Amino acid sequence: MTTPATLGPRSGWWQDAVIYQVYPRSFADGDGDGVGDLAGLQEHLPYIAALGVNGIWITPFQPSPQIDQGYDVSDYCGVDPLFGTMEQFDDLLDAAHGLGLRIILDVVPNHCSSEHPLFQAALAAGPGSPERGMFHFEDGHNAGTPPNNWQSVFGGAAWSRANPGSDTDRQWYLHLFSPEQPDWNWRNPAVGDYFEDVLRFWLDKGVDGLRIDVAHALFKAEGLPDTASTGTVVNGLRSNPQVSDQEEVHEVYRRWRRLTDAYTPERILVGEVNLEPDRAARYTRPDEMHQAFAFAFVKLDWDAAAWAAVGTELEAARRVHGAPPTWALENHDITRSVTRFGGGERGVSRARAGLLTILGLPGGAYIYQGQELNLPDVEVPLGARADPMWARGGVSRDGARVPLPWTTVPDGSYGFSPSSDADPWLPVPASWGTHSVEAHRQDPQSTLHFVRETLRLRGQLIEKEIFTPGDACEWRVEENGLLICARGNQVLVAVAMGDKPCRLPAGDVLLASAPLTPEGLLPPDSAAWILQS
Ligand code: GLC
Repeated sequence: MTTPATLGPRSGWWQDAVIYQVYPRSFADGDGDGVGDLAGLQEHLPYIAALGVNGIWITPFQPSPQIDQGYDVSDYCGVDPLFGTMEQFDDLLDAAHGLGLRIILDVVPNHCSSEHPLFQAALAAGPGSPERGMFHFEDGHNAGTPPNNWQSVFGGAAWSRANPGSDTDRQWYLHLFSPEQPDWNWRNPAVGDYFEDVLRFWLDKGVDGLRIDVAHALFKAEGLPDTASTGTVVNGLRSNPQVSDQEEVHEVYRRWRRLTDAYTPERILVGEVNLEPDRAARYTRPDEMHQAFAFAFVKLDWDAAAWAAVGTELEAARRVHGAPPTWALENHDITRSVTRFGGGERGVSRARAGLLTILGLPGGAYIYQGQELNLPDVEVPLGARADPMWARGGVSRDGARVPLPWTTVPDGSYGFSPSSDADPWLPVPASWGTHSVEAHRQDPQSTLHFVRETLRLRGQLIEKEIFTPGDACEWRVEENGLLICARGNQVLVAVAMGDKPCRLPAGDVLLASAPLTPEGLLPPDSAAWILQS
């Protein structure tokens, strides 16, 4: 087991940590097969450390048929040969810790791959067997009709026949996502025990935290009743309350918190809890998870009133439940912020301002790979789309998953792969070189340099206790669409969200995402941190 020696045991490190999300298949390809891997990640660890972040969240690299790009896990305690070996992971963990970076891994407890040995055993064992009890196998109402009317998040029915064509096995199994991702039955205590072993396996290795996939959906309403609302929303399982936010799920996180609390240095749980602020905050009560992403915020357009309203809601929830929100503007499931905020130069300015904003708020923050390079969402050619949601539901998340450009060299992948022979697993646009790490390094005004500067300043403000995680946030909108978040007593985060330059409140401008106008006004689509006098 390795410990992050250079980091020290500071308890509560996660409360203001900035974590860089790595989607390994698109980060860097070490072995030249066109798919990113652990070797590529290890090679570029110094790049991540130089950003000034505190750690890395790595999305799944465990063995998987890759139907949902690794979120269909067939062995929770291994490494898929596509990404490398367990020895490489152990080396990576040591190297990251040596650079002062903590490592957070993804755990996918709602469903596994249909290739998982326990699901295969359940299929073979037949109706009524204990093996089937690990999953949701049910008889259909009539021939050809699933047990209830639930829809899959990826489109179509959430049920598939266990044994299509069999006259004796009339059962269906539940899959909230694709048919290749059967849902575990969390009402069976054996499932909880199984996952406790999985968590221990990685925690014993020394990983610093676990990101819990679809954390609010593990329990389904008792008796699996029909739902009145069958509309499918991107991962927004709230459209079916029968599969979302059931009270019993909190006991899982209490158990996992007791487990992580037994480890030193401190390990964390961060939840993908895709719920409204007041419901999501209940997952970070003191005896549950440490963090839950503020999803209500992730989805906002460039709209001061909406940011202030959601910020205020998150703050109210924090006051009731204790933990500050965990901020993010992007991840591998969401349209890149440059594009969401209008695209082009304007989108770039806004995305940069948005990043400065969330990094100025109390609580942990996550940066998705490529956000520091202003990567826009890509219109991936139809034939190249790999997201199962595209085939089943007509929505593609591929645009946020295009491989990272490292160099300006037009070698087919802009330095993502070492060899120009291998096509990257998703095609990269011809313009990608201008977004590359190399291009950003050469330009002192680039967002890459800006992110480094922002994180350096954030670190100093934390050290001086001007930023503390417990700071209150007060949100308001002033003239010309100037969004203000008053953080604690000393700092204002200001964002010009209207179309006119804005006069800033009194104080010293510590950092701005764009130069102020000659009159000292904050230009539209930019943000600033202000130290109040
Ligand atoms: C989470 C992941 C997403 C995946 C889904 C099913 O929302 O972030 O990528 O498709 O879970 O596992």
